[in-house]
Amino acid sequence: MAASGQKRTRSERVAALDLAPGQWERAWVSLRRRDVLGRIGLALLAALIMGALIRAWDPPARQGLSADGPNVGGPAAESPEVPAAPTARQRLMRAAAVVVMIFVMLVLCGIYMRYRQHGPLADITQLGVMLTLAGITVAISRWASVAPWRAELVPLMLFGMTMAIVYGQELAVLLCGVLALVLALALEQSLCTLVLLMGVSATANLNLGRIRSRSKLIYVGLFSGGVAALLTTGLGIVDNQPTDAELLRAATRNGLWAVAAGFLMTGLLPFVERLFGVLTDLSLLELGDVSHPLLQELVRRAPSTYNHSVTVGSIGEAAADSIGARGLLVRVGAYFHDIGKMLKPGYYAENQGAEENRHEALVPAMSSLIIVAHIKDGADLARQHHLPQPIIDLIEQHHGTTRVGFFYERASEQKRSDPNGADVDESTYRYPGPKPQTKEAAVLMLADNVESASRTLVDPTPARIESLVREVAERRLHGGEFDESGLTLRELRTIERSMVKSLTAVYHGRLKYPDQRTA
Ligand SMILES: [Fe+2]
Ligand SMILES: [Fe+2]
Repeated sequence: MAASGQKRTRSERVAALDLAPGQWERAWVSLRRRDVLGRIGLALLAALIMGALIRAWDPPARQGLSADGPNVGGPAAESPEVPAAPTARQRLMRAAAVVVMIFVMLVLCGIYMRYRQHGPLADITQLGVMLTLAGITVAISRWASVAPWRAELVPLMLFGMTMAIVYGQELAVLLCGVLALVLALALEQSLCTLVLLMGVSATANLNLGRIRSRSKLIYVGLFSGGVAALLTTGLGIVDNQPTDAELLRAATRNGLWAVAAGFLMTGLLPFVERLFGVLTDLSLLELGDVSHPLLQELVRRAPSTYNHSVTVGSIGEAAADSIGARGLLVRVGAYFHDIGKMLKPGYYAENQGAEENRHEALVPAMSSLIIVAHIKDGADLARQHHLPQPIIDLIEQHHGTTRVGFFYERASEQKRSDPNGADVDESTYRYPGPKPQTKEAAVLMLADNVESASRTLVDPTPARIESLVREVAERRLHGGEFDESGLTLRELRTIERSMVKSLTAVYHGRLKYPDQRTA
C-alpha cells in the first residue's frame, strides 16, 4: 500500500476497494455502493404508478376516448371498428410492455443526467420529489384531458417550466418528451398529440431562460399559446381534418390553455422556489434591494462593511458574468456576505478608525476567533431572516478554509520571541469552511479578497492592480480553495482580467496625474 499523501496506482486503488472477484460481482458491489439500485427502484416504482395512472392495460380506443374526445385537432376522428375485447393475458402483456417502456425512458433520462448534468440524480430525495411531480402531472393531465376541456397541456407545461427553473432547460425538454409520450399513450395514441405536447412544452421550456421580471412567464405563455394554436391547425391539416370552425376552436382552446399555464406559473413560482430551494433572478432582484432589513441594519451598524460589500458585489458580478456564471447571485450574495460583522463591527479593519485598534488589547488567538465568528454569525442572521439557502452557502463559503494570516503571523512572532509561551494552534486561525462549492462562491471569494487587498495599495496603478489580482488568485489557487468549485484555469484567468478592469475603473478617479500637486 502506498504511503498516505502519495498518489496510488490504479491496481492499488482497486485493491483498496476490496471488491469481490468476478466481473458481475464487481458490477453488483459497485451498483450497491453508489446507491444506483435505490434510484433504479424509484424509476421502476414511478413507471408502475404512471402505468397504473394511464391504465396501461386498457387501450384508449376501448375507453371510448378517441371516438369523441381527445383528438388534437379538435374534430372527432371517424370511430374505428371496435376490435374484440382483449383477453386477460393480452391486457397483462400490454401493461407490462407500457411499464417497461416508461421505465426504459426514465432510465435513459437518468443516464443523460449521469453524464451531462446531475440535477436531481445527485440526491435521492430530490429524485423522489421530481418523480412524484411527474406522476402528479400524468394524473392531472389524464383527468384534465376529458372533453370538452382537453387541458392536458397545462399540467405538462407547468411541470416542464418547473424543471427548467430548477434543473435547466435541457433536462426539462427531455423530461417533457417522456411525459408527452406517456400521455400520448394514455390518450388516443395519436402522433399528433405527441407532437403537440412535445412542441408546446419545448417552446415554453426553451424560452424560459432567466426570469428577471414577473411578466416573463406571461410572455412565455403567450408565445407558447401562439405556437400551440399554429401547431394544432397544422397538425389538424396534416391529419386530414376539415379546416372548419371546429379546428379553429381547437386551435384557440389549446392556445388559451398555454397562456393560462404562463399565468398559473407566475403564481406558483414562489412555491417552486421554496420546494426546491432554488433562486430565480426575480427573487434575487427583490432580495438585493437595499431596503432589506438586514442590509439597512448593516448600513447603520457597519457602514464601511456595507460599502465594501457593494464594491465586492459589482466586481464579482462582472467577473461571474464574464465566465457565464450567475453574476446576479454573486452580487446579491456579496451584499450579505459579511452581515455577521455587524454584531462586532469595531473589530474589523474597514470599520476601525485611525485612533483605535481593539485588537491591541487582545491576544492573537482571541482576535482570530472574533474575526472567524463573522461566518457563523452571518449564517445565523441569514437563517433568522429566512434568506434562501444559496445565499447562506455563499456566506459560509466566502472565506473557504483560508487562514487569518495577520493574527497567525503575529502569534507565530510572539512564540518566536517567547519560546515559553503557548504553542500556536493553526486550526484556531483557520476559517471553518467549506471551500467554495460553486463557481459563484469562488468568484465571490476572489472579489472579496482583491477588494480588501486593493485598499492597501498606496498608488493603485493598473500595473499594480494587475499584479495584486494575479498574486491573490495564485495564492487561493495553490491553497486549494478552488478545488471543489468546478472553476477551470481558463475561467480563473478570465475572472482575473475582469477584476483588473473593474478595480482599475474603481480607482481611476483616485489616480494622480503627473501635473497634479494634490489628489
Ligand atoms: Fe468575510
Ligand atoms: Fe468581505
